[in-house]
Amino acid sequence: MYYPDELVEEIRSRCDIVSVLSQFISLQKKGSNYTCCCPFHNEKTPSFSVNPTRQIYKCFGCGVGGNVFTFLQKYENMTFPEAVEYLAPIAGVTLPERDNSQEAKEKTNKKIRLYDCNKDAANYFYMVLWDEKRGRLGMQYLKKRGLTDETIKQFALGYAPTDGGEVIRYLKSKGYTDREMIDAGIASFSEKYGLSCKFWNRVMFPIIDDKNKVMGFGGRVMGDGEPKYLNSQETDIFNKRKNLYGFRFAKSSRKNRFILCEGYMDVISLHQAGFNEAVASLGTAFTTEQARLLKRYSPDVYLAYDSDGAGTKAAMRAIEILQQFDCTGRVINMKPYKDPDEFIKNLGAEEYEKRMENAEDALLFQIHTTEKNYNTMDYAEKTRFHHEIAAFLAQREDPLERDNYLEAVSREYRIDREHLKQAVAKEAMILADKREREELRSTGQQRPSKEDYQKVNEQIFLTYLIEEPNLYPQVAKYITKEDFSTPLYKDTAAVVLEDLKEGKTPNPATLISRYEDPDEQSEVSALFTTKIEHLADKEEREKAIGEVFYKLKKSSYERNESQRSSDIEGIRQGLMEKQALEELKKIVIHL
Ligand code: UTP
Ligand code: MN
Repeated sequence: MYYPDELVEEIRSRCDIVSVLSQFISLQKKGSNYTCCCPFHNEKTPSFSVNPTRQIYKCFGCGVGGNVFTFLQKYENMTFPEAVEYLAPIAGVTLPERDNSQEAKEKTNKKIRLYDCNKDAANYFYMVLWDEKRGRLGMQYLKKRGLTDETIKQFALGYAPTDGGEVIRYLKSKGYTDREMIDAGIASFSEKYGLSCKFWNRVMFPIIDDKNKVMGFGGRVMGDGEPKYLNSQETDIFNKRKNLYGFRFAKSSRKNRFILCEGYMDVISLHQAGFNEAVASLGTAFTTEQARLLKRYSPDVYLAYDSDGAGTKAAMRAIEILQQFDCTGRVINMKPYKDPDEFIKNLGAEEYEKRMENAEDALLFQIHTTEKNYNTMDYAEKTRFHHEIAAFLAQREDPLERDNYLEAVSREYRIDREHLKQAVAKEAMILADKREREELRSTGQQRPSKEDYQKVNEQIFLTYLIEEPNLYPQVAKYITKEDFSTPLYKDTAAVVLEDLKEGKTPNPATLISRYEDPDEQSEVSALFTTKIEHLADKEEREKAIGEVFYKLKKSSYERNESQRSSDIEGIRQGLMEKQALEELKKIVIHL
């Protein structure tokens, strides 16, 4: 750990989870808790719950859970120390110099090294590009594409020389090891060439995050080579799913909208023409993480994908993702041009702005695109097309929104409004069913297997103990942490039992801080949020807990029995445990 536990705990206890989380998500008060749609999975009805008493959150849909720190780690992509540093001023706590453990220090240092390595590489490519002789090919290319000096500088474009050894030698002289250059995604090793730069004779597009760190590169070949664009692979510092090209400028564009396009050059041309709200995904399809990122800044997303078949297909997929995040999608028609870059070169920025004003609503775009797959002169095909329209409409859950579309679409295609409405209702049911099954699958909810049974039993018992600390004195004599076989529960039980012994109430948010693995954090918070509600009356609950406790002790006894040594001491130990178990069996009904 970077900071002493007591300090971390002090910061945690001084930050109210509800007010911290409210800065990122909009919580609604519901009873004594706060809820909203889970920011970590797609859903339409809220199953994310924040408990101000316990200072923890939990999603009953996907199972994530934790405290203020883990929220920031997950939602804002912070490391644990970053989350502590973020909250310290809010808590009014001054942090000492970091008390770094060796391992954590190395991990952070390694990332810093990789960022630095990329930055130095970017500087080198930049330097080469501006060298009259060595950068001529690259500079000629960029000028031919109509970029100004200012734009080239703004995007820190560069040129990777034909000799792939050059940049390697430069980085070596700066002190980077072979391993670091490989891990940064700059270099690759082959038997034939040894260590060489992955990029050569390419114009280089550094991919820079919103903290001005170089995560990776895209490199465009000069001429017609393959691949046209070569991208850095995913590394410890480059996550393609979570970032967007141009985002560092677009997020503060003040336009309150985004233009989502396909390529690096599209983004750059748009920015040069004044559309500094343009972004592109990084050589891969648009992802849910990227949609979430955009939504946090603005829900208005204009799609500017290539007007060819592939572009249309990608736009259709992006619309579905945007819609899951309640973004308003619109599709810009750039015909007769292929992409924003070509369009602006030919017709200019003003004309492009007009095309944006006339951009097609995403749902109507979906319908019009689908229409092309059907021969609507054929009645059977026409019917199928109408059903498909209904399926698109069914994806819109807001009744007002759906009504507006029903009106527009029934008029455009001359479909009886009531009939269309019925078809939509049917599709909505099919869709709801499909979603429910998907959700179950994605959250891995199945009946517990026989192997899980013991674990569940341990979990229920711990939850009981936490919910009803009054129970402790009655079981204190029998229970130890060793009765828990699941390592995580054994560890948690140790703390919970210790707290109860000292007459303290176990603190959920503190317990969660003990774990670094998000799955473990979620499991621990589940201990505090599992409600054993279905056993309504007290008597029934006490009977149930007695049973759970007895089963727990019995499994523990059997586990010990199978490992017990056969000497006289082992036998004595076994007999004692057996006797205690018998005694317990008699008293559990009174628990
Ligand atoms: P395009 O082929 O449409 O590129 O690919 P473009 O931006 O129009 O390229 P220019 O104008 O010919 O230079 C769109 C995007 O897909 C990714 C890149 O991110 C590119 O910007 N791509 C394309 C690759 O990652 N690799 C490829 O080989 C091709
Ligand atoms: Mn293109």
